[in-house]
Amino acid sequence: MTAQLIDGKAIAAAIHEEVRVAAAELKAKHGITPGLATVLVGDNPASHSYVKGKRQACAEDGLESFPNELPADTPQADVIALVKRLGEDPKVHGILVQLPLPGHINEEAVLNAVPITKDVDGFHPVNIGKLGMKNREPSFEPCTPAGVIELLDRIGAKIEGASAVVLGRSNIVGLPVSLLLLGRNATVTVCHSRTKDIAAVVRQADILVAAIGKAKFVKAEWVKPGAVVIDVGVNSLPVLNPDGTQAISEKTGKPRTKLVGDCDFEAVKEVASAITPVPGGVGPMTIAMLMKNTLRAAQQSVK
Ligand code: GUN
Repeated sequence: MTAQLIDGKAIAAAIHEEVRVAAAELKAKHGITPGLATVLVGDNPASHSYVKGKRQACAEDGLESFPNELPADTPQADVIALVKRLGEDPKVHGILVQLPLPGHINEEAVLNAVPITKDVDGFHPVNIGKLGMKNREPSFEPCTPAGVIELLDRIGAKIEGASAVVLGRSNIVGLPVSLLLLGRNATVTVCHSRTKDIAAVVRQADILVAAIGKAKFVKAEWVKPGAVVIDVGVNSLPVLNPDGTQAISEKTGKPRTKLVGDCDFEAVKEVASAITPVPGGVGPMTIAMLMKNTLRAAQQSVK
């Protein structure tokens, strides 16, 4: 059996369209344009590229974006002062502090300065705390984990009662996605670097979420036939020539690379019932959920 491909690009496009329609309605009814402030400290190229993508999505969905770029050596107090100013700006409905921050800045201190009503990334400690508690609702759910759940829902996967295995316990994916799955009544196991016999644990999973950042780590023999596999990994591998040497791009003259997930996709797709590709699976969902959260922040500002 070959698995159903979960088309994150198409699902994200549908969410962007829903956001566009609702943002236009908010503007027409209340004169409010949802606004997202981005805070980028330093010159990490990947972070710059992520923030650019987020701002582009704002433009396409009818949201306003307020970019803030600070040099890598900006004192922590200045970053916090900026975040507090944005917190008081009525045109800003959501604040996104791009992570990681430079080493001299305490991430927790900065995230604490984001008002929870504008925490569209869902990383404020209060929001993460509420995520893990019964009968509490965070103002916002973190975007990539919420995107994982949205993919499962939109393909009709049954989460309640399922055995869900999460590989990885990072603050931005592994931990929050396991809390969301638990909140949806899955039986959740979280695996990490000290887990004994990961293969045996993975074999129990009806739903497998791989978020450990190791290329092709999950083997087909580990996967329970019929499992739904969500691959959050984004790993860069060199492209090789037929003779085994590194391929070079004719256009740029640089070594060619390709993106692969945490699962051995070609083999795992023959065992799973559904699987996300990399790229084009979870990736596009993160920004779509950020737009959805920012829209919601603006809608809530009316009430
Ligand atoms: N760095 C990697 N992923 C994310 C994310 O989802 N949000 C922010 N703010 N930073 C990140």
